[in-house]
Formats: sequence, C-alpha cells, structure tokens
Amino acid sequence: MKAVILVGGQGTRLRPLTCNIPKPMIPLVNQPFIEWMLMRLRDQGINEVILAVQYLADRFRATLGDGSRLEMKLHIVEEPEPRGTAGAVKNVEYLLDGPTFVFNGDVMTDLDLRAMLDFHREKQSKVTISLTPVEDPTQFGLVEMDADQRVKRFLEKPRVEDLNSNLINAGTYIIEPDIFRYVPPNQFYMFERGLFPVLLQTGDPMYGFPSRAYWTDIGKPPTYIDVHHDILIGKVRYNFQGQQIANRVWIEGEAIIHPSAQIVGPVVMGDGTIIEKGARIIGPTVLGPRCQIGPDCNIEGAVLWEDNRLAEGVTLRNSVLGRNNTIGARCFIADGAIIGDDCVLGPENRLERGIRLWPGTQLGEKAVSF
Ligand code: GTP
Repeated sequence: MKAVILVGGQGTRLRPLTCNIPKPMIPLVNQPFIEWMLMRLRDQGINEVILAVQYLADRFRATLGDGSRLEMKLHIVEEPEPRGTAGAVKNVEYLLDGPTFVFNGDVMTDLDLRAMLDFHREKQSKVTISLTPVEDPTQFGLVEMDADQRVKRFLEKPRVEDLNSNLINAGTYIIEPDIFRYVPPNQFYMFERGLFPVLLQTGDPMYGFPSRAYWTDIGKPPTYIDVHHDILIGKVRYNFQGQQIANRVWIEGEAIIHPSAQIVGPVVMGDGTIIEKGARIIGPTVLGPRCQIGPDCNIEGAVLWEDNRLAEGVTLRNSVLGRNNTIGARCFIADGAIIGDDCVLGPENRLERGIRLWPGTQLGEKAVSF
C-alpha cells in the first residue's frame, strides 16, 4: 500500500518557526515531525511513501534521502510551482497504482488506518475522508453525511444556525487514482474547494469515516505547544527516545545537571543539555540538544529547539524558542511568545501575549516590555 504526504505548503501560520525549515520538518519532541509520521505509517504496513514537496524542498532530501534509514521506500517529488493539495497528488499520479492514502503533512493523529481501509473497501468508495469531531466547527470545513455515511455536503466555516454536525475534515484521505481524471493537469487545484465538490456533482461515491482518534493540526503556534503537552502528559501514544532518569524525565544522550537544579517531569532533554545551579525545569517541557540553561532560570511548559543559551534568571513559560538563540539575563518570555532562530536578546526584555520575533532579531537591554 502506498501513501502520499502533502508537505509543500509554506506554513505561514507557524512563522517565524517555518522561515528556515518547512513545517513538516519542525521538531516534535526533538525529532522532525515527518519522521514520526513516516515511522507510524511504516509500523501500520505502509512502506512506500511519496512526499509531495515544494517549499524548501532540499531540506526533505537532505534529511530523509531515499528513506532507507527509516526502512522504507521514499519518493521525494518536487512541484515546479505550488499546485495545491489535489494538484500536488495529480503531479505524482504516475506513481499510484491502487487505493492510496493521502495525508496532510501537518496533522498529528493516531488514526487506525487499517480500519479506515476496511471501511473504504466495504463501501466501495472512491474517496474516503477521515472526520474528527471538534467543539467549535464554525472555524472549519464541516462535512455532512447521510445515514450510510455517504458525503452529502461540505460547509465552509458554517454559521451557528447551520450546524447539524460537528465533524470536520481531518486531512487523511483514501483515494482511488482514477478520480484524478477530474483534476486538471499542471494547475493549482484543491481537494476541499475543487475535487470534492466536483465529486458531489458527478455522483462518484465519497464517504466520511468519523473517528475519535487523537487529532491535532500542528500548524498553529498554540497547537504546536499543545501537541507537545499532550505527548508529554501521555494523551497520545509516543515512543520516547533516550533514557528515563526519573519519573517522566528523559535524557537523549548525555546531560550535565547541577545538583541544586530542580526538574519536575514530564521533561525531555536533548543530548548535551547543560542545566546550571538553582534552575527549575517544570514539565511539560522539551529542551533541544545542546541547550544551556543558566543559573536560577525558570522554565515551564516550554519547547526549545537546539543550541539555545539562556543567561541567569530567565523565565520561559508556555513559549517556543527556535534554534540558536541567546537570551539575556532575567528576560521574561511567556504566554505563547515565539522566538525564531539566531536571535540575540539583551537582559530584561519582556515578551508576552503571542509576540513573535523573526530570525536574526537583536534586542538591546529592556528593549521590549508589556
Ligand atoms: P499555512 O500557510 O499556515 O496555511 O500552512 P500550509 O499551506 O503549509 O498548510 P495547509 O494547512 O494549508 O495545507 C495542508 C497540507 O498540505 C500541509 O501539509 C501543506 O504542506 C500541504 N500543502 C498545501 N499546499 C500545497 C501545495 O501547493 N503543494 C504541496 N505539495 N503541498 C501543499
């Protein structure tokens, strides 16, 4: 069985984290998200995967190659220009030879793929769309079905009075390749606004597969932090790398931790982490490889990528640091702040309320406060 993963988008909602790296390559608990996804597919019996790449395509080739490191066959196919979700699959149609899974490359889910495939076959469906319930469907595309689960209607961002279901498109499909005859070649074309409405008109059978499996779109800053918290508190199945050195505290290699530092799990520390005197690391928190946490820092609910250096007394709460940042003494970074790569912050800056710093930003002492 083959799968196509759509990974060509620009990830604009997650900027500045996606300025230098495509969204599916960003780390999830210190591992590129796409690797986690590929290993999950391999473990569920899908060992040939086509990655439809476009934005920062070389990053995929450099990290994943032909897939042999992950014990699978990988085709990395670059579009000459962005073709949209359906156009991207049309572009790799020549590699498809039967029912094929198509995944959005920014969805974290532990959906039962075998059950979805059985459902697709039993219904003799042409397109099966995985559906997930959400509390507030008004921000999403709603999918309406009949009693037999055949799709009847799509409602984009419905009004409250039009709601009669809470099931939204969860971004995993099983598709019979012959439906790509409806997709114009060499053009930008989307599933949601293009192919699916066309299939409602042609009458090709299209079914919805509702599931209560874990589901999160990692492509927005709050959900990127939330998904780390969910993994660390055990809401989603996850194989932690490294060694568990205390209750829900993992180290992926070697770390130097001062005896007076306090670490309260769940916490994951990358190889080469240094934690200095009196620092407090409170979970759920992930420290990337080679991060250096200065004396008396307070870190809670944060995600740090690799090579960050924090001077003394820094507070970091519910925020993300990209790569290779230098954070001056007593900076206070909280409340969904996102710092890109290679930033240098002088002492005592205060960054809160979802503020975002673009890569390479330099701030003098006390330059920003709220
Ligand atoms: P935003 O800019 O933040 O909306 O992110 P995005 O465009 O990267 O993601 P979006 O949620 O819109 O798209 C869903 C999935 O389809 C993501 O995994 C994208 O990488 C992928 N995708 C979107 N557009 C294209 C495209 O033109 N070509 C390819 N190959 N993939 C795409």
